[in-house]
Amino acid sequence: MRDLLPPTVAVAVAGPDDWVGELLAAEQACLSDQAVPTRRRDFTAGRVCARRALTGLGLPPTAVPAADRAPVWPAGVVGTITHTAGYCAAAAAHVSDIRSVGMDAEQHREISPGVRRLVLLPEEEASLARLPSDIFWPVVLFSAKETVYKVWHPVVGSWLDFQDARLDIDPDAGTFTARIAPARIAEAQVDDPPSTISGRFVVADGLVRTAAVLPPR
Ligand SMILES: CC(C)(COP(=O)(O)OP(=O)(O)OC[C@H]1O[C@@H](n2cnc3c(N)ncnc32)[C@H](O)[C@@H]1OP(=O)(O)O)[C@@H](O)C(=O)NCCC(=O)NCCS
Repeated sequence: MRDLLPPTVAVAVAGPDDWVGELLAAEQACLSDQAVPTRRRDFTAGRVCARRALTGLGLPPTAVPAADRAPVWPAGVVGTITHTAGYCAAAAAHVSDIRSVGMDAEQHREISPGVRRLVLLPEEEASLARLPSDIFWPVVLFSAKETVYKVWHPVVGSWLDFQDARLDIDPDAGTFTARIAPARIAEAQVDDPPSTISGRFVVADGLVRTAAVLPPR
């Protein structure tokens, strides 16, 4: 993820011990007592990485609780967390440097026809035929759209459906640009909602990784 984000963003990727690390009390309170072991490991690795990302910004490793599933960062900080089997990362930045940051990791594999229909717009589906065939592009678009949501939601506070962002991919540059549906922009309750969100992707080691930032206003 480090290579996908600007240097003003602190990034932490989980090592083997982080999945069984310590949760702070405010974080523990956000994890259901009924959480299955995999969920507990994912959540723990995410919080350990989140606090390490905070120290990478020169800040104390304070708790990163959650509200309505979204991580709650200390005042003046934006950040993001992702986990998938065997991989977890978190990133944080000062709001003076970055307005919002999002990141997503997925296993690099085909997605089901049902999910594909849910995620891809007809014009995106048509564009896949022009892309190199050594990559499962639907899962790249899926991951990029989840990253777009993680950038959008902390800033705008509203839901964004997969069909509300139209993605253009540049396979050579490893970049993507999402154009947000005008209706979602029009109904946004904040000043200056982002109409485009641009990011980077990489496919390596069996994973798709995507990341994007919004520059400060
Ligand atoms: C929230 C969502 C994007 C998470 O993605 P995921 O692939 O399921 O899981 P990841 O491991 O990558 O990310 C999970 C982390 O996202 C973060 N997250 C959850 N809700 C969030 C939100 N509203 N905003 C920002 N981050 C959020 C959390 O930190 C969570 O980890 P945690 O519960 O351990 O703290 C996904 O579950 C979702 O709801 N998607 C539908 C909305 C969407 O993607 N629309 C596309 C618009 S183009």
